[in-house]
Amino acid sequence: MQLGGHVQLGRFEHTLEAVAGRAPAVRVAMLESSSATPVGPGRVKLVQVLDGDGPPPVPAGQAWGEVGVCEICLHVRNVQEVHDALVAGGCASLMEPTSADVPPTGITLDIAYVADPWGTKLELIEWTGLWRSLPGPPRAEGVNHVAFGVTDMERTRAFYARLGFTELLFESVEFFDPMAPWFEAPWYDPGNLPAQHMTMPMPAQGAAIEPVVLDPPGHDCRGAWGHLGPMDFGIRVTNLDAAAARLASDGVQLHGAPQSLDVGSGEWRYIYFVEPDGNYVQLVEARY
Ligand SMILES: [Fe+2]
Repeated sequence: MQLGGHVQLGRFEHTLEAVAGRAPAVRVAMLESSSATPVGPGRVKLVQVLDGDGPPPVPAGQAWGEVGVCEICLHVRNVQEVHDALVAGGCASLMEPTSADVPPTGITLDIAYVADPWGTKLELIEWTGLWRSLPGPPRAEGVNHVAFGVTDMERTRAFYARLGFTELLFESVEFFDPMAPWFEAPWYDPGNLPAQHMTMPMPAQGAAIEPVVLDPPGHDCRGAWGHLGPMDFGIRVTNLDAAAARLASDGVQLHGAPQSLDVGSGEWRYIYFVEPDGNYVQLVEARY
């Protein structure tokens, strides 16, 4: 099965400043799906720390929803077939395909989870009640959303609303039972799991975010920048200098000055900023 032709846009080595607390040498590859759609538009960035002891380890005991990035979600056409193809290809299944609908509007969806080779929780979603995807064979599209843990939902919603994430696709406060096997001792009491407050704010275009608050709070799973598994995300802008100036004027702390990388066929610019819980988040302007 063809799961979507991925095109490597840029590959380079550079020294990352500021955000990691040191300057690791890293290799970065940005992958864009040729099957991207408006509901699966986002790209995947691969990061490999090359120096020191290599990539830092996955944060210990991460279940889902602790502070830190906890999943990448691809929109797909036909969750069951894409899930089965990935499992046949060697991925571990973390959640068998299931259907649900989400409050408050009852929008329906099909989901499943697999693990990538480094343990990343990779969600596969088809928003059947929102967008049935374009015609064609079962396939993965681009990133639909990224999920990350926070400690104060109201504060996070207000912060990301200023970045354009204003349309609430769903909000739930119940623990999502199919995730229960991920919450293991000694980090959690499997008989007394935390409540999960999930929301999904969408921008007018582009991928969404899924901030999550656990109650009681989980432990800090941000880990060192560059660690294995999901660890940061970028928000694309059309003018990095203007966007960074806007954040700064809003009182958001920036990590240094905008960085610019020659990727051969163009330029990739980024700047990290301090979000409310210290998750690793950047603005990105891609000129290629
Ligand atoms: Fe998700």
